This record gives sequence, C-alpha cells and structure tokens, in this order.
Amino acid sequence: MYAALQLNAQTTSSWLGAGKPVDPYHYTQVKHDFFKNAAVSCAHPLASMIGAQMMKQGGNAFDAGIAVQLALAVVYPAAGNIGGGGFLIAKKANNKFLAIDYREVAPGKATQNMYLDKDGNAQLDLSQNGRLASGVPGTIAGLFATLPSAKLNFKTLIQPAIELASKGYVITEREANSLNSNQKAFIKNNNFAPAFVKTQTWKAGDTLIQPELANTLIRIRDQGAKGFYEGETAKLIVDEMRKGNGIISLEDLKNYKAKFRDPLSFNYNGYTIYGFPPPSSGGILLLQMMKMVENSKEIKKGFQTPESTQIMIEAERRAYADRAEHLGDPDFWKVPLKGLSSNSYLVNRMSNFTPGKASKSVDIGAGTIKESEQTTHISIYDKEGNMVSITTTLNGGYGAKTVVQGAGFLLNNEMDDFSVKPGVANMFGAVGGEANAIQAGKRMLSSMCPVVVTKNGKPAIVVGTPGGTTIPTSVYQALINVFEFGMNTDNAINQPKFHHQHLPDEVFIEPSFPEALKSSLISMGYKLTNRASIGKTEMIQIHKDKIEVAADRRGDDSVAGF
Ligand code: DON
Repeated sequence: MYAALQLNAQTTSSWLGAGKPVDPYHYTQVKHDFFKNAAVSCAHPLASMIGAQMMKQGGNAFDAGIAVQLALAVVYPAAGNIGGGGFLIAKKANNKFLAIDYREVAPGKATQNMYLDKDGNAQLDLSQNGRLASGVPGTIAGLFATLPSAKLNFKTLIQPAIELASKGYVITEREANSLNSNQKAFIKNNNFAPAFVKTQTWKAGDTLIQPELANTLIRIRDQGAKGFYEGETAKLIVDEMRKGNGIISLEDLKNYKAKFRDPLSFNYNGYTIYGFPPPSSGGILLLQMMKMVENSKEIKKGFQTPESTQIMIEAERRAYADRAEHLGDPDFWKVPLKGLSSNSYLVNRMSNFTPGKASKSVDIGAGTIKESEQTTHISIYDKEGNMVSITTTLNGGYGAKTVVQGAGFLLNNEMDDFSVKPGVANMFGAVGGEANAIQAGKRMLSSMCPVVVTKNGKPAIVVGTPGGTTIPTSVYQALINVFEFGMNTDNAINQPKFHHQHLPDEVFIEPSFPEALKSSLISMGYKLTNRASIGKTEMIQIHKDKIEVAADRRGDDSVAGF
C-alpha cells in the first residue's frame, strides 16, 4: 500500500546515507563519553547524532532540542511524538531561564465523568486506548515556542526527520520486539494498517518507512505550526476522531497554546536545581524528596546502606502522598506550592520517620497546607553554555495505539493522567481527586521532571528520564548518587533503583537490587515488589574542562557530541 503513496513534495537527501552526517542503516550506541564542545543524550542513536550535527553546523542546544524531538517522532515511535506533549526547561548562556509547557489539554467536549459508565464505574480502557484517550497535542506548539531561542531555520531542523520518515531507518532488536508485542493493539485500535503493522514479525535490521508521517512533517515544514493545528493535518485528526468516539475538534486544535512557566528552584549541598512546576508534579516532588533527606545523618551513611535507602524511601512516600491530594493544573486549581516546598513543612513531614522501621501509608496521608512507562528524555549542552532538558511523551508506549490515518502519527493517551474518578488508580497506579479532575481545556497532571542544575551560577548538570510516576524518583536518585555518593554520570544513572509512591504501600525495586539490602528493608517492615526496569535517565555533567555525557543502559539510548 505504501509504494502507491506519493510524497507531497520532493525532499533532497542531504542528511542520510553512507558518508552523510547520519547513516540510518548503520549506527551504534554510545553509552558514555566526553566531549569538548557540545553533547546530547537521548533514547535513540540516530536522534542524538542529528542533535550533535545541528550544533556542529552552527546551531545551539535549542536547535538540537527541536531537531532531536522531530527525529525521535520518527525513529522512536513508542514515545517520540508529534501527537503528544512535553516540557522543556533550559538555562540559557545569558543566564535567563526558560520553561515551556506544551502539555496536552482536555478537549473542549471533555467532562469530569467522561470515563465513567452509567453505574459510575471507571472505564480505563477508554482513558488508555483509542481516540477518546487523546488530549489535544502540544508538541508542535512547543517546538515553535522554542524556535526563537534557536539559531537555524526550521526547515533545516525538520529535514532529517522528513528524510528518516520517507526513506526509512533500520530498527534495533529492542524496537522489533516492542513493535511485535504491540501488533494486536495496533490492529484493534485502527481500522487501517498503520506503518507499524506487518504480516510477518519485525526483526532487527528491518527498515521502517513512514511516508504519511513524512507528508505531515512536510506540511509542518512548509506551513509552520498551522501545518499541524490547521488545514490538512487538523482535518485528518478530526476525521480520525469521527471514525470512533474521539472528541478533539478543529477549534481545540486551533486554540492550543504552549505556555511559559516559572521554573521551580531550590538549593541542595551548594547546587541549585531547576525543575518544572505544575502542571507537572516533577519539580515539586523532586524538591520535597531532596530536601527531606538533605543533611540527614542517614544519607551520610553512603550508597546502598539500609539507612540511606530507608530515608530516601520514606521521603518518596511522603512526597507522593501530597501529589495525589494537592497537585493539578495551576490554571484550574490553586496549587499550594509555597506550603509544599517550605522547610518547616518538610521537616514536619519527616518528624514521624522512624529509623529502622517502615512507616505505613495509611498513617501518612497528605499533609495539611496552610496556604492560601513511555516517555522520553533529551539532555543537551552546547558550547555557548546553554543547558536544555526536555521530557516529552505520548503517555503509554505508542500512546493511544491509534494512528491518525493519512497523517501517520500516533495519538497520545494522556487523558489517563487525569484522575478519572477519585481514588481510582491510573495506568501508573497514581490516584488523585478534585485537583486533577477532568475539565475542558485543563492540563492533566504530569510526573515529568526535566531538570537543569547550576553550581555557583554555572552550568553543572542536565538530567531527566521517562517512567511515569517513577520519573521524579529516578531523577532524585540520580542526583543523590552524584551529590552524596560522588558517582560519575554513567554510574549515577545506571544503579538499581527503588520507588515508593505512597500507594500502593510497597517499594518497587529493579532486578539488580542487592540481596543484603533487600533483607535489611524486609526486616524493617517494607514490602518489596520486583519491577523489570525503572526509568531511562539521560545525564550530562559539565566539568571545568570537559563535558561528560551518559545514556541509560536500560534501552537503545545513546550519546553524541563533538
Ligand atoms: O506525564 C506523565 O507523568 C506521564 N504521562 C508520563 C508517562 C511515562 O513516563 C511513560 N513512561 N515510561
């Protein structure tokens, strides 16, 4: 069927092929490296290489951020996207900070009880799969909100993605397995065969070509954000909605706006950490967890000691209890950020911490405030001194699993990040209430946590990760591994992780979590639950004379630079 599909415009292949800057048929992963000028770490080697090339040919970290996101929308369809949304936080070389919120919003026809059946039962299949699961996408608006900080023109930045989509790229074994395990879902949630559907099974080395996606990217190249939010692409999205129960309208698309936010910052051991404020819970959770352990005698006991691990778990439990109760879109809900981040509040939260004994989530609950698994992360640093940290998502792997027919991209299933019904867990086990209830035009609460860190005002660290509700704990543990346990970048992100999110009252651990530490925690009263993997963290550390960059070893993630 694809042979018959004509591309709307000719593209000159200036990027791809043997001897070109990026060879989509031969590439390898680089997990840890040092560079002098600029570095990128993200979920796919081809996208990292494209980011580094953009900076080599005169672009800055913002150019790289735009080009990498567009490339990931092609080569990492499980999470890279133009049909999703995300957050960008950056410290510019001129010392200004930028926080762009391009989170999806609930469509105009969305209502608080839209996922409840007539008896009031939550229908999570509808918030997690298919057209009704999709919020209004924000990514393209986010890219155009980033563009004024970039140096190259948009046509240059999107060109590699167009070529990757139209000519194809070779998939890895992990991608082949991932596409194979989603075949049934792709068939169920589409009434045509998207490019991801194959009669035989996918195998490593197969070429994935996405001509319809290439045409959508060409419309965006030629018409800017209108190439997505209006005209042909918008019409294709609305046509897709009409095929089933979708509710995104032409007005919803036309009205979508990215928003600029004020980063949330705090100090830890001489570093200043800048995180994303609501509608993401990422920054405030990170602040709370880090401040609850800072200067404690337990954290000073060292890496993987029962004492440091226990206090970190208890900080996680308490921070996540607050998330469920107090956090939501600040344009719709008064989020008590000051109270949640005040020192006295956090000290008080830890006052019932008992060394050697697990607390119980039923006894913890949320504090009283007296105040009025797919996502993908990109870390970038350039030679001018710009730090750019981007986390972007479709929510679940391949989002709603529904591809917009004719436009070739996946819809997100971000509506599931709202609290569909008070107390009903979403796909990440997160619960919520009024603060995160569905309302038309509202942004669903996120856990995404892109971070930049300075030391004495100078660039120090760029970090972030996917992982649903485990995102803030992954970033927290990676930073504590550097700040308290003196690890290098590669070690800091690849240590086995542990995650507690208040409810369920258990600690999720990765397979390589040490046996002795498991026994210690069990004897303190913790319930441990194995989990295949937690997060895929990308970290850059800026040293005096070099840039150190690492990509998570849990995936195909890879670094590039020069
Ligand atoms: O915004 C959020 O918190 C979620 N939609 C993120 C989903 C995610 O990280 C899935 N990844 N592994």
